[in-house]
Amino acid sequence: MKNKRLIGVLAALALLVIGIIVYQSLSSQNQKSSQSDTFKVGVLQYVSHNALDEIYRGIKAGMKEEGYSGKKIKIDFMNAEGDQSKVQTMSQTLVNHKNDVLIGIATPAAQGLASATKDTPIVMGAVTDPVGAKLVKNLKKPDGNVTGVSDKTPIKAQVDLVKTLTPKVKTIGVIYSSSEDNSKSQVAEFKKRAEKKGYEVLEYSVPSTNEIATTMNVMLEKADAVWIPLDNTIASAFPTVVSAAKAAKKPIYPSVDTMVNEGGLASVVVDQYELGVATGKMAVKLFEGKNVSDLPVNIFDKGTPVVNKKVAKELGITIPADVLKKTKNK
Ligand code: TRP
Repeated sequence: MKNKRLIGVLAALALLVIGIIVYQSLSSQNQKSSQSDTFKVGVLQYVSHNALDEIYRGIKAGMKEEGYSGKKIKIDFMNAEGDQSKVQTMSQTLVNHKNDVLIGIATPAAQGLASATKDTPIVMGAVTDPVGAKLVKNLKKPDGNVTGVSDKTPIKAQVDLVKTLTPKVKTIGVIYSSSEDNSKSQVAEFKKRAEKKGYEVLEYSVPSTNEIATTMNVMLEKADAVWIPLDNTIASAFPTVVSAAKAAKKPIYPSVDTMVNEGGLASVVVDQYELGVATGKMAVKLFEGKNVSDLPVNIFDKGTPVVNKKVAKELGITIPADVLKKTKNK
């Protein structure tokens, strides 16, 4: 009798324990699946300028198009404001936050993230020269944890545009930041192509935005026109470049539409928003289970001409009808 009661109590206890274990494991599974339903994405933007801001808008839109908005996504956004030490600490913070995927907008941001983790997948948002920046070795089949979108503006078409719009130009001054790997390769290509067409190219690199004004003044004593690569430092202080060129009555050929709108003369450009949309969609693919090596770097290299008619008028430049016909900003 006593034994039976004991067995009964033990059996009840055992059932209780099993019940608790089953309940706990079920509820922890629930927790896990609701956690992995939410896409945790860390975004590091290198600096604020209109083009990068536009890319970030595109990134959010691209992720939303794939169904990631509202409660389905948690965006951990940081902006390093062009400060290299912030790039490092913010990259580390975004890794520590255990985001599922990381996005670096512009080369220095992608480089910061890549040196902070070799595990979490990283998507480059608009990195001009992923190989030169040592972010990817094989563009077709990325081998590390980094893939993404590359903006290779059509430099040949830009040189041709200088010839078409300003046939009298002989010497072109180039201003860029000495610390941006993206600019180095663009400047080398521009120099090669422009010299082939008979131009003299004068290069001026600046260590920071502080030197832009004086450098522009030195440059404009010799150069007939200014060409600017996709350089974040110059883009973030572009009004300084514009006011110097305006005073000297010389045209600026930037590499992006936002800088044409802000006072450049003309360019052949890649759409910034679309770069962002493609970046956002790639991040979603990684979250949904694709591997970095399944996703080749997406290269945008076809451009559309853009012209600032107000600046053309101020400089007394007539835009030929066939160029105007092709431009994006009618
Ligand atoms: N391609 C640049 C990089 O590799 C980033 C960038 C995108 C950019 N659009 C731009 C820089 C427009 C200046 C202007 O870092």
